[in-house]
Amino acid sequence: MRILGTGSALPSQTVTNDMLAGFLDTNDEWISTRTGIKTRHILSDETLVDLATRAAQNAIASAGITPEDLDFIICSNVANNYVTPALSTIIQGNIGSNCPCVDLNGACAGFIYALDIAESFLKTDRAKKILILCAEEPTKFCNWQERSTSILFGDGAGAVVLGAGDDLKAIRLTASSKKEVLYYQRKMEPTPFEHNNEMTMPLVMNGRDVFRMAVSSSCSDIDFVLKEANMQSDEIDFFLLHQANMRIIEAIRTHVHQPTKKFPSNIQRYGNTSSASIPILIDELSREGHLPEGSQLLLSAFGAGFVTGACILTWHTIQY
Ligand code: ACO
Repeated sequence: MRILGTGSALPSQTVTNDMLAGFLDTNDEWISTRTGIKTRHILSDETLVDLATRAAQNAIASAGITPEDLDFIICSNVANNYVTPALSTIIQGNIGSNCPCVDLNGACAGFIYALDIAESFLKTDRAKKILILCAEEPTKFCNWQERSTSILFGDGAGAVVLGAGDDLKAIRLTASSKKEVLYYQRKMEPTPFEHNNEMTMPLVMNGRDVFRMAVSSSCSDIDFVLKEANMQSDEIDFFLLHQANMRIIEAIRTHVHQPTKKFPSNIQRYGNTSSASIPILIDELSREGHLPEGSQLLLSAFGAGFVTGACILTWHTIQY
C-alpha cells in the first residue's frame, strides 16, 4: 500500500474544560493534568454523516482521483444512529462512488485493522484504490452526568486513500476478550420472546485497567513491529499513537526512549476521537508539511475489546 491522500473533518462546536466545569464537578486543572485534554469538538448542528462525507471528499481530492476510481470503501465506526445500513454505504452515495463498502468495528484500533484489510485487497489485486474512513461520535456513548468518562471524548472523522505500493513494513493486530473494562450497550427493540432483557447503559470504563492495558499492549506491539521490520526505535521518525491520554503517550515514549518531538499529538485540542484520532493526526501533520518524504512512521492504537494494532510505514509526501 501507499497513502495517496488524506482528509479530516471536525465539528464546529468547540467545548473547553471550563465549559464542562459549568455542569460537571470537574475543573480544567484536573482534566489537563490527568489527560492532556484542553478542548474537544462535539457534534451539535452537524451530523456524523456530514463530517464523514467531508473527510472522504478531502482525502479523495488530495489523492488526485475521482470517487468513481474507488474500488472499495472501509469505514471504521464503533456506533452511530444507523444500525443499518452501514455508514460506508451512506457515505458512498454522498460522495458519488459505486464500489463495494463495509463497516468495521475495531474500536479505537479500527484504522489499523482497516489498513491491514486494505493491504490484502491491494496485494491480491482485488482493488487498486481504497478509501479508509474513520468516523466516530463517542460523545454520544457517554453519560454526561458522569465526569470520569464524558471529559475524555470528542467527535471527528479522518480518512485516507490507499493505492498500490510497498510502504507497509510491518503490521500487528491483536484481540483478547475483556468486555468488562470498557463497554457501551445500545438499546434494541423488545420482542415478545425475550426473557432476559439485558440492561443497557452508557459507556462503562475502568479507567485504571484501560490505562494499564493500553501501555503494556502498545509497548509490546511496538516492540513486535520494530522486530518484524528489523528496525530500532531510533530509526522511527514519528510515533503516531492513538490520542486517548497524554500520560499513556508519555509512558509509551519512555518505553521506547525517544524524544518528545517524535510524538506529535493533537489530543490537547480534540480529546479522544476513537479510531479517527490517528487519521486526523496524519492529515493535519501532512497538510502542515511536518511529514518529510521518506519518513518512517510507527502507528499504534488500542481500544475496547480489548483490541490493539500497530504498524510501520514509509511516508511519501502528498501535494494538497
Ligand atoms: N474531574 C475531577 N475529578 C475526577 C474526574 C474529573 N473529570 N474524574 C474522576 N475524578 C476523581 C475520581 O472521582 C477520583 O476521586 P477519589 O480519589 O476521591 O475517588 C480521582 O479523581 C482519581 O480518579 P481516577 O479514576 O483514579 O483517576 P486517574 O488518574 O486514573 O485518571 C483517567 C482517570 C483519566 C480516566 C485515566 O484512568 C485514564 O486516562 N485511563 C485510560 C482511559 C482511556 O484511555 N480511555 C479511552 C477509552 S476508549 C479508548 O480509546 C480505548
